[in-house]
Amino acid sequence: MPITFEVLEKDIAGRIGRLSTGKRTVRTPLLLPVINPHLQPVSPAEMKAMGADGIITNAYIFSRSSEYRDRALSEGLHDLLGFDGLIMTDSGSFQLSVYGEVEIGNLETLEFQQAIGSDIWVPLDIPTSPDAGRQQAAEELAVTLARLREARETLGPEAPVAGPVQGGMFEDLREQAGREVGEIGFSFCPIGAVVPLMESYRYSELVRVVMAAKNGIPPSSCVHLFGAGHPSMFALAVAMGCDVFDSAAYALYAKDRRYLTPSGSYRVDELAELPCPCPVCRGHTATGLRESPDLVRLLSLHNLAVSLAEISRIRQAITDGVLWELVDERCRGHPQLLRAYRDLLARNRELEPFDRSTKRRFFYRGSESCLRTEVVRYQQQVGRIATGHEVLVAMDGVKRTGFDTTLFFKPPFGPFPPELRETFPIGQSEIPDWDEDMLVQGCAGIRVLMEANPRSRYTVFAPERWLAIVERELPGCEVRCDRV
Ligand code: GUN
Ligand code: ZN
Repeated sequence: MPITFEVLEKDIAGRIGRLSTGKRTVRTPLLLPVINPHLQPVSPAEMKAMGADGIITNAYIFSRSSEYRDRALSEGLHDLLGFDGLIMTDSGSFQLSVYGEVEIGNLETLEFQQAIGSDIWVPLDIPTSPDAGRQQAAEELAVTLARLREARETLGPEAPVAGPVQGGMFEDLREQAGREVGEIGFSFCPIGAVVPLMESYRYSELVRVVMAAKNGIPPSSCVHLFGAGHPSMFALAVAMGCDVFDSAAYALYAKDRRYLTPSGSYRVDELAELPCPCPVCRGHTATGLRESPDLVRLLSLHNLAVSLAEISRIRQAITDGVLWELVDERCRGHPQLLRAYRDLLARNRELEPFDRSTKRRFFYRGSESCLRTEVVRYQQQVGRIATGHEVLVAMDGVKRTGFDTTLFFKPPFGPFPPELRETFPIGQSEIPDWDEDMLVQGCAGIRVLMEANPRSRYTVFAPERWLAIVERELPGCEVRCDRV
């Protein structure tokens, strides 16, 4: 059975989807905890009970293990691991990126993954280092693509094989890789070789690489961000259209005595409290946890609970259409995330076509909100309003006689006719007291309308406090205020 993916709901470029492989179907966004059979602080069965619908493990480890190889082949992975959800296997590529060499071939690893009953198989792609120059990135990409073609031709169109997207730090290579992977026929596309970026907080570069890959990958494909990671960046990645994550972070951080939260992490030794509702945190004091002989397991359980809960929160945010609010919240947890968030907002015109048309609400959270896709879309559409000869824009909300058209004003969107008062985004947006950023953005909406109706004459009544800014932003427009 091939891998199929169906998009059910959208927000920004993020989606809720249904991913099916063979007899298993899971919902996305999805987190696949990484299982290492040799050191596993939490069992796959326990993970299932915590809400993990899938896991990922490394086929290379099984194939090289005297303890597990034969059992995996005879019992199958699901029985061996005691997990009846979706199991994805990785090839030796991660080892390849760390150790430089692996003793396994492309078809050999794929046939092994098939033989142990994995639900999603990964070919032996080459994760190009972010330091690689263009020529190396292009050469390695060519090898990866050749191996993907080999996988398709040998195993057939139905085989549940993933098509990793490589290309190093080069946007055109990433885009081309995404396009070719789609053309070869892969509907499940991991974006690879981003672990070094995430490990060193290079989130802006992550945004560049993911957006480039997404530009090439068909929108109907399921996108996996290989090796991500920390729950604080899940929302940002989902906003760009990533559907699946795999994370060893829960266990790696635990081994390092680190405690995850959705907005960052702490060293457990610096915690006086355990600010989390999971059973571990409610059942221990910070001191008790720190001194427990079971610390690594307990921290792993907590870290995993936090990561899975963040995925649930993201799905709910998509359903409600409030993903931007969640991204905004999470990206304030680290300056490099904030920077990446601003870089993503700067690409609002690229994201706008993917966004849905109505949402439950729009909460203004500061100047970043001015650049949201909803504002872009509103200001693209505001020019469709036809205005009469004399137009009043009543920023102060007061109707006056003597005008052919009366519009009101809601920053950061701009002017609106009374008929739109109850519709999204005007009716569902909540803003605090005006600030300069939202006013400037709203004036841009007025300018769009003025350009679309060059024969109309515009008079704007502005609150006195904002008069100077409105005059500056709307040259050629009569700006007045009623002094009280
Ligand atoms: N795990 C993390 N990054 C990668 C990657 O680029 N390719 C594969 N196969 N596994 C990974
Ligand atoms: Zn907890």
